[in-house]
Amino acid sequence: MTAPAIDRVLFTEEEIRRRIRQVAAEISAHYAGGELKLVGVLKGSVFFLTALACELTVPVTVDFLGISSFTHSMTAPAKAAPGMVRISKDLDESIEGEHVLLVEDIIDTGFTTRYLLQHLSGRAPKSLAVCTLLDRTPRRIVQIALDYRCFEIPDRFVVGFGLDYRQLYRNLKYVAVLKPEE
Ligand code: IMP
Ligand code: MG
Repeated sequence: MTAPAIDRVLFTEEEIRRRIRQVAAEISAHYAGGELKLVGVLKGSVFFLTALACELTVPVTVDFLGISSFTHSMTAPAKAAPGMVRISKDLDESIEGEHVLLVEDIIDTGFTTRYLLQHLSGRAPKSLAVCTLLDRTPRRIVQIALDYRCFEIPDRFVVGFGLDYRQLYRNLKYVAVLKPEE
């Protein structure tokens, strides 16, 4: 089976880098004088988290959560009902009393983020905020208070910069829309 081809590039490598620098500056200003724990969601947010972390000027620690929630469908990216999100790998360390920033690749319906925020807030962090690379507001079902967002995107399935289609395309340096499967 061949992977579907790229339809068009939504955000180039340079656009993404520039925007990450801007958002990182906002985050660094907000947490100035403190320490920040970045919590990434495997596997999609790893690429964004790494790029963001490198631009932050506050001291940073990093931890990861693994979840399983997602179907292989391209047309219905988030069939996941709230109950369908599962933690498959928990954090390695406690977040109690820490400033925590949940780093997401994309917020679509919002179910995943809501679940993760509930999970993390139960662990008594000093503060808890959300930062996402992509925000697809047209498909939002659950309202999420988003603290930092790099880009808003239209209702099309996207890949690259960590986002996958059947585990492929994560390593693209840009974010692109795939051609619909025939
Ligand atoms: P939500 O729970 O509907 O917000 O879905 C969020 C998760 O669905 C993300 O963390 C991604 O793993 C996945 N997802 C949603 N849309 C896309 C997409 O366009 N491309 C790749 N993965 C996506
Ligand atoms: Mg995925």
